[in-house]
Amino acid sequence: MTEFIRKKYRYSFHLSPEKGWMNDPNGLTFFKGRYHIFYQYNPDNNRPGKACWGHYSSNDLVHWQSEEPALLPDKEYDQDGCYSGSAIVVNDRLYLMYTGHKNLSSGYQETQCLAYSDDGIKFYKSLVNPVIPYPPKQNTHRFRDPKIWKENGQYFAVIGGESIGHRGQVNVFKSNELSCGWHFIGELVKAKDKDGEMWECPDYFELAGNRFLLASPKGMINQGVNGFTSIWLKDVMLGQTLEEYQIHYVDEGQDFYAPQTFVDQKHNRRILIGWFGMPGLQELENEPQVGALTIPREVRLKNGSLHFPPIREIEELRLDKTVLKKKMLITDKSELDIRLLGSSFLLLIKDLEKLSFIQMIYDNDELSVSFCDKFRDFSKVIKIEKITDIRIFIDQGLTEIFINDGEKTFSNKCELHDQLGVTLEGEFSGDVYRLRGKFC
Ligand code: FRU
Repeated sequence: MTEFIRKKYRYSFHLSPEKGWMNDPNGLTFFKGRYHIFYQYNPDNNRPGKACWGHYSSNDLVHWQSEEPALLPDKEYDQDGCYSGSAIVVNDRLYLMYTGHKNLSSGYQETQCLAYSDDGIKFYKSLVNPVIPYPPKQNTHRFRDPKIWKENGQYFAVIGGESIGHRGQVNVFKSNELSCGWHFIGELVKAKDKDGEMWECPDYFELAGNRFLLASPKGMINQGVNGFTSIWLKDVMLGQTLEEYQIHYVDEGQDFYAPQTFVDQKHNRRILIGWFGMPGLQELENEPQVGALTIPREVRLKNGSLHFPPIREIEELRLDKTVLKKKMLITDKSELDIRLLGSSFLLLIKDLEKLSFIQMIYDNDELSVSFCDKFRDFSKVIKIEKITDIRIFIDQGLTEIFINDGEKTFSNKCELHDQLGVTLEGEFSGDVYRLRGKFC
């Protein structure tokens, strides 16, 4: 099923289903020459429900085609949701490892399951599901979101969890085979008390000889929205349990959660995509559709830190170019590409009718970013020594800001529609592009 009718979509170049609810990206992969993104999807209404795996595919990460859902909650072990998970390609076959969610009279049960496909479109669930039927003894029933990979001929999966003492933890399982033999080998990380009671959607990878863990803690004290945020940790070694760590935020905005990465073999790079949304923070109103995915971002290691610039192919969305001026009007589907030449600036992007706005003020190595509309008034100040460039993508209410080629990013909703007024003070040069939609 190809969706050609762009105007039906709420967002222009962000992936979002025509109707229903979308949350986490799942099973990101490059398989038989095509990119695949799956996602947590409730087609029935605009709230979380019995999740199935929605599906998009693409040749180039810019033009996307909507496919039939890949996994439906139709087995006893996943009857209340095919929850988040990941993909792995083995011998020309695409495998998905996901969490089967089943409600019980008291609480719920979460098990890890497999499905496979030879064409990347039609998936079959393994007959021996669930392949990991129980959480480790040290973990409560909150046990989900397997990220699978192969290393030295063996399969590994990190699985999000909650310790018996109600702290987040990431469990590691190992097996010689995909569909059997999975066993617990230890915790990769045990969260400190204030860092959340459950760590969801872990991802574990190597970049330039360093090992990184991504996770989305739930219940972190004084962080994110209602304690939900996404973090990365460095020097996380397989076979050890990290208990002392330094937290870095994947994104500084209010609407970013559950990111996942995958290796793009075509261009030899790692790409990250997040949910442009947040548990417990949706402006539902009468929208038939809620939730989107972020622009794909490259994962780069620079001076010991992870940076997340937008993939370069995103430039293919550019329609026409105008030189950036101190005062100008732009549309609500635009990219601002700004080079900063001084040590301070002010940038204001304002909806002319609704009075919603985005404001960025930089001075004395401090950047203050505000998003203000009828739903929210959010401001955040971050320390940043020098700002050389900023790219801002505006898509009818979604804004992604990339500072210094992805050193810091902000993903935030803000009701910016139709004609927007831009005011820029400081020394700068740059361009503004009108952007087109994501579907062919
Ligand atoms: C994160 C999450 C995952 C779970 C999924 C259910 O947003 O709670 O832990 O698998 O959403 O939709």
